Amino acid sequence: MNILCAYNANIDSIVHVDCEELTRMLEVHDNIPEKMNDPTGSISSVSDFLAGLVICMRDGTGAEWLIHDSNVFEWLKETFLERSFMRMGGNMGIMSNVLSELGATKVIPNVASLTELQASFFSRKAILHPYKGKLYNSSDLEHILHSGGSWQELIHFVFDFKKGDTFILSGKRISVPRENRFIATYDPLNFRLYMDEHFREYSLEHAEEMDGAIVSGYHMLQEDLDDGDYKTRVDESLAQLIDWKKKRADLHLHVEMGHFSSENIASYAFSTLSPVVDRIGMNEDELAILARVNDMDPKPILGMDPVAIAEAAIVLCNDHGLCRMLVHTREFVLSVSCMDEDDPELIIQAMDFGVKCAAAFACSGKLSDRDELLDMAGGIRESDPGKAASIRLAKHMEEEWNCSGVCGIYNSYQVTIVPTRICDEPVSTVGLGDTISAAIFLRELELNS
Ligand code: GLC
Repeated sequence: MNILCAYNANIDSIVHVDCEELTRMLEVHDNIPEKMNDPTGSISSVSDFLAGLVICMRDGTGAEWLIHDSNVFEWLKETFLERSFMRMGGNMGIMSNVLSELGATKVIPNVASLTELQASFFSRKAILHPYKGKLYNSSDLEHILHSGGSWQELIHFVFDFKKGDTFILSGKRISVPRENRFIATYDPLNFRLYMDEHFREYSLEHAEEMDGAIVSGYHMLQEDLDDGDYKTRVDESLAQLIDWKKKRADLHLHVEMGHFSSENIASYAFSTLSPVVDRIGMNEDELAILARVNDMDPKPILGMDPVAIAEAAIVLCNDHGLCRMLVHTREFVLSVSCMDEDDPELIIQAMDFGVKCAAAFACSGKLSDRDELLDMAGGIRESDPGKAASIRLAKHMEEEWNCSGVCGIYNSYQVTIVPTRICDEPVSTVGLGDTISAAIFLRELELNS
């Protein structure tokens, strides 16, 4: 399979939160409770950063806040960089590596800042970087690497925390209810949905040879861009996707959502892309934002009620001209499709494959080849809440079909659900949704070919 991947790749610096250190920091910055009452959703000071982290840890939720002040970024580097571990980051970067490691033939990524460090995190198997109309594999990159000058390392700090971690805020001990992560991101290029000119040219010229495209990074856009606003960026990207489709009508297009800093941007990106792309993937937090904007109650979605999730996904598809949505949560993956001729058994098989790859990746922190991953996943237990959710959704279906998982018709859409597999001690929780989405995408392309 030949696959185009755009737009966001960066470097993730993963830090496991040290709760004693956090407690000490919270003693020094005594305005955190006020900041938590009225969260900024972005970072302009160390206190903003601490408030965002503590909200996520208190609630067990995940979030990504963008850093607006380079001094805070410098502080994060000084404080955490040395003890962090670095790996590929950015939804597109992670998904392109998954596709490459799992056996795609050619994976062509758009990279905003292809420095030596960034290049070192790309998979060696099938990733090829376009430059002046030609493709270069990772070992042959030297003359196209960005260095010095304005090219910079795009580092996102990912703070991972575990269930049961405890820290003290204003004299009160807080215990973390669920593992998750808080991402503090400073990334002036991906903030603009950066399109590399070599990628742009190559992808247009060779769209006919491609089987699919995975696109993400819209959530990095901001409302106050200086050089053109977020709508212009989304529209430019839409034009690129339409150009690809003109060259190859059956190019399968998957968009992966992320944690948006603004409801306006989330809503604009979703409604603009929906009529053109084949499907959109997201987690329950992201679905809840879109649901709220579209006058639906986000609470049961955040509570991971599968019926509310299916309902919201179907309403959003219907209202915006999208045919398929894939929602991945910690406990289950759920797909809704408007296509009668989709084979539900094939979708279940692909979802099961994605779940296994992500579970093995969570436990090992590495992507190995597919047989090894599947082997490892065999020993990882299925989520009990995920199994219960499947049974609950099955009961609400208008028609339940016979397949190896749960599938059937709900509100006239074909709905399938598969429980995830839970790694008790994940190396990191970041990028698991991307891993699931990319693995499902690849397996579906293969099974449909
Ligand atoms: C977002 C973050 C990135 C992280 C990715 C994981 O793109 O910016 O740092 O790797 O999400 O899904």
